[in-house]
Amino acid sequence: MKSYQKVNLFSYNTFAIDLLCDRLIEVEKEEEVLQLLDNKIFESEFLVIGGGSNLLFTKPFNGTIIKMVTKGIKKVKEDDFSVWIEVQAGELWEDFIFYCIDNQYYGIENLVGIPGLVGSSPVQNIGAYSVEAKDVIEMVSGWRISTQKSFQLSNDECQFGYRNSIFKSEWKNDVIITKVLFRLSKKEKYVISYQGLIEELGKNPAPLSLRKVADAILALRNTKLPDISEFGCAGSFFKNPIVSDDVFLAIQQRFPKLISYPVSDGKVKLAAGQLIDLAGMKGYREGNVGVWPKQALVIVNYGGASGEEIVAFYKKVQQCVFDTFGIAIEPEVNVI
Ligand code: EPU
Repeated sequence: MKSYQKVNLFSYNTFAIDLLCDRLIEVEKEEEVLQLLDNKIFESEFLVIGGGSNLLFTKPFNGTIIKMVTKGIKKVKEDDFSVWIEVQAGELWEDFIFYCIDNQYYGIENLVGIPGLVGSSPVQNIGAYSVEAKDVIEMVSGWRISTQKSFQLSNDECQFGYRNSIFKSEWKNDVIITKVLFRLSKKEKYVISYQGLIEELGKNPAPLSLRKVADAILALRNTKLPDISEFGCAGSFFKNPIVSDDVFLAIQQRFPKLISYPVSDGKVKLAAGQLIDLAGMKGYREGNVGVWPKQALVIVNYGGASGEEIVAFYKKVQQCVFDTFGIAIEPEVNVI
């Protein structure tokens, strides 16, 4: 493992917040997690990070940041229909996606373009274009900090929900995920139900393939989302709120174009981006912080914004949505 003192977090968070942490440890081998537990690293303040693409630092971090940089993508089992791939937590999500595309493994291609590391994917059950990580996760392994015991959780035991899992609820800040086992399909199948995807696919005359779907998704993302190498941001800043049918119907009276997706009996999910948009905040900017003009769910740091400025800004957006619709939208981003 590598340990560094007084590290600038600028390149460890995609919001490009310029702050220091006391110590940063990069874990290069799975076994090193045991050493960290033995050395009582977790008895003082700590934070386990992945690619830093879902974090907003608001103050210097007076503790230890632990980043898994373990590597390895291994096929562990296969039958006629499926393949099981074990991936170390420190692998780049993007590298895993392209490994699957290159090997003709189906099921995960819609999640191309999402920044971050494989070990973070189960935590908030990342999702896009009608696919979620939970659709392909078979097992998550790691260490629990409170009990100092290793764990292996099946898909069911991970309690996946919309942008949620046991790792964000009951076991929050109590785990180090070391590897994830995925099950992918060897048989050709695609999820192309997302509105706009078929249209995008139609622009390319080539027959449907994993590469074609991935290219179409990347093209869609490029039209809506900022390039994180150019603008600080953390993807969707807010979660899409889930409300009762009654609340939805009442708001729809005033805003007939309101979009909703059924979730469960009597509940629907609204599009937070649309709410922010209808509330008139799309493209709104104060100093170095703004709502992205092409997708209102994204808040961007145009350069040099502090975490506190971004917090003050997102609260304004929240308030405006609340004043317009009576709905409290919650950050998806982890504010530290
Ligand atoms: N919409 C607007 N105005 C906006 C943004 C969206 O009217 O400014 C409308 C769109 O027209 C669309 C609806 O809202 O009808 C939903 O928009 P979109 O399909 O772009 O999806 P989203 O709900 O805004 C979610 C994920 C994204 C993911 C997309 C595509 C969350 C919090 N976000 O966004 O994930 O890429 O679906 O599947 O669920 C991320 O998590 O970082 C992320 C980018």
